[in-house]
Amino acid sequence: MDYKDQINLSKLPKHIAIVMDGNGRWAKEKGKLRVFGHKNGILSVKDVIEGATEIGIEYVTLYAFSTENWNRPKLEVAAIMEILISTIHKETQTLIDNNVRLNVIGNINALPANCKRELNEAIDKTAHNYRLTLTLALSYSARWDITQAAKTIAQKVQAGELQLDEIDENLFSKHLNTHNLPNPELLIRTSGEHRVSNYLLWEIAYTELYFTNKLWPDFRRHDLFEAIYNFQKRERRFGLTSEQLT
Ligand code: IPE
Ligand code: IPE
Ligand code: MG
Repeated sequence: MDYKDQINLSKLPKHIAIVMDGNGRWAKEKGKLRVFGHKNGILSVKDVIEGATEIGIEYVTLYAFSTENWNRPKLEVAAIMEILISTIHKETQTLIDNNVRLNVIGNINALPANCKRELNEAIDKTAHNYRLTLTLALSYSARWDITQAAKTIAQKVQAGELQLDEIDENLFSKHLNTHNLPNPELLIRTSGEHRVSNYLLWEIAYTELYFTNKLWPDFRRHDLFEAIYNFQKRERRFGLTSEQLT
């Protein structure tokens, strides 16, 4: 089935978040080192971003490296950072050509200096693009983000800049790394794992979850279209009854 033709373009999710999982298993299946999977995962990123821009998705957020991923073997962490740096360097022009704005969420200060430099350069160069916002979650975990937001808010209260009763969900959201992104309507996780693993915990309260057994390096734009097609078949009730929606 060609899912692209079946998608209702007037009911697209604005924001799709993806947990790109299964690179290691994909490589292992082929008798290769895990790094081979991470390298091939880049081809999936490129294809999915192209597919997303093709149909008019405005925001894609990719879980590329979690806070917990720092605890992987040193060699693997170093290899992932290398892939990240070289990919950003190589692909910045592609982002510009496709009118894609690069954005980052996560503890960027934890990244190696050269990685931070490449990232900031690409963010600056793509700052005026508006077709799609591509956010990389790097050294990111939702609990980290929620904690840093709570700290900033507490400091403002302590300094007398903010009153306690001014704190509500809206104000809290504004202190998260995701403050300039709408909440995702759809969250995709590849590799058959049915969990969220510290991703966007605040933001996914009413997000539709979609799981596929495909390993990330096998995921392509038609898989994205299938996920969107599946999403469009669902009824999102936000706590209301079905009757109330009609
Ligand atoms: C996802 O693939 C990429 C990162 C977490 C950086 P994995 O490396 O987790 O691959 P699996 O899950 O072990 O197969
Ligand atoms: C989640 O994948 C993080 C990223 C995709 C970057 P993991 O492979 O780290 O998650 P767990 O450990 O299986 O939950
Ligand atoms: Mg994994």
